[in-house]
Amino acid sequence: MKVLITGGAGFVGANLAFYLTERGHQVTVLDNLVRRGSELNLPRLKAKGIRFVHGDVRCAEDLVGLPQDFDVICETCAQPSAIDGYGNPLFDINNNTLGLLNVLEFARRIGAGLIFWSTNKTYAGVHINQFPMIEGDLRWTWDQEAIAAQWGDNLPAGFDPVEGFSAAFTVDGKDHSIYGLSKIMSDLACQEWYDAFGVRTIVNRFSCLAGEGQFGKSAQGWVAWWAIAFHFGLPLKYIGWEGKQVRDALFIEDICRLVEIEINQLDKLAGSVFNVGGGKDISLSLREATALMERKFGTTVPVVYEEDPRKADHCIYLSDIRPVTAATGWAPKVSVEEGYDRIIAWVKDNEDLLRALYL
Ligand SMILES: NC(=O)c1ccc[n+]([C@@H]2O[C@H](COP(=O)([O-])OP(=O)(O)OC[C@H]3O[C@@H](n4cnc5c(N)ncnc54)[C@H](O)[C@@H]3O)[C@@H](O)[C@H]2O)c1
Repeated sequence: MKVLITGGAGFVGANLAFYLTERGHQVTVLDNLVRRGSELNLPRLKAKGIRFVHGDVRCAEDLVGLPQDFDVICETCAQPSAIDGYGNPLFDINNNTLGLLNVLEFARRIGAGLIFWSTNKTYAGVHINQFPMIEGDLRWTWDQEAIAAQWGDNLPAGFDPVEGFSAAFTVDGKDHSIYGLSKIMSDLACQEWYDAFGVRTIVNRFSCLAGEGQFGKSAQGWVAWWAIAFHFGLPLKYIGWEGKQVRDALFIEDICRLVEIEINQLDKLAGSVFNVGGGKDISLSLREATALMERKFGTTVPVVYEEDPRKADHCIYLSDIRPVTAATGWAPKVSVEEGYDRIIAWVKDNEDLLRALYL
């Protein structure tokens, strides 16, 4: 297949470009290199013979100049932090929503399919955090008894207190973050372009993505950031919920494997919206990540506590992956332990490069 990856010099995009190229797909990458660290992927892309175009999805003309024969576009580019948008909301909307509309229109014009990287931030914190929870030593869990007493068999659509949230959960409400707003608008636009114009779109609402090659920071890409911080002895922060907030993690190899299935089954899966993550079996809290790093590195790092959670943050978010598994046969394989081993090996192999970015 001929594949265009927008945002293809970033963490997900570059890894996907390598993965698909190794499997015989013909990949072109477009990126404006706004994310610090993405420029470091350019020599690696070049070494694999992957075409790089320096362009910006906000500028429709940058897409017009591209070849017109792509089978599918993987739209991975974004301002991906859920915090930055409060300082400059129009940037997120321009970049993440209006940029996506340009890519959708390009897909429509050339007849390509489009796979969109949406997010769990399409769900409002006020809805996600409404379910009673129990505080454990290292993580919060859902209080099954209290939930059963309150809702019985009438749980809100899309919520299962063991499996987590599916795409049937409401996207209504405030409290998505500005980033989340920019993404739900794009997510809905993909669905609308499928319905109105027949553009074969697939929306994946990913939760916490992680892996080697991720220039993580506290505000985005925290799983990798934990390993980087431990390697260099840098301080970490727990922001709210005593550091016991829980995410399901999905590691890069599993992301790429799913996307290749979706590319190959585009006609069958067109119009789908999936929640995608590690699910209930591949999840961790910040404190659990700290404990794991202490074990792996044999050291500790200072941890700063902030009492108030980040605005619009979720306390427990798990993706209910049963629908995506049923539709595609895919299931995540990389465990938290294995995923971290790969990240730590990458950090050690790239110490000089990371030192220049982080110290
Ligand atoms: N990392 C996560 O935990 C996570 C979770 C859910 C969804 N997502 C989504 O997955 C996608 C990939 O995330 P990532 O972690 O690889 O982020 P990243 O920042 O590493 O990569 C995004 C790339 O897009 C590029 N970019 C940004 N704006 C652009 C524009 N206007 N034109 C062209 N290129 C532009 C950046 O330079 C960067 O290389 C994003 O859409 C993000 O919102 C990420």
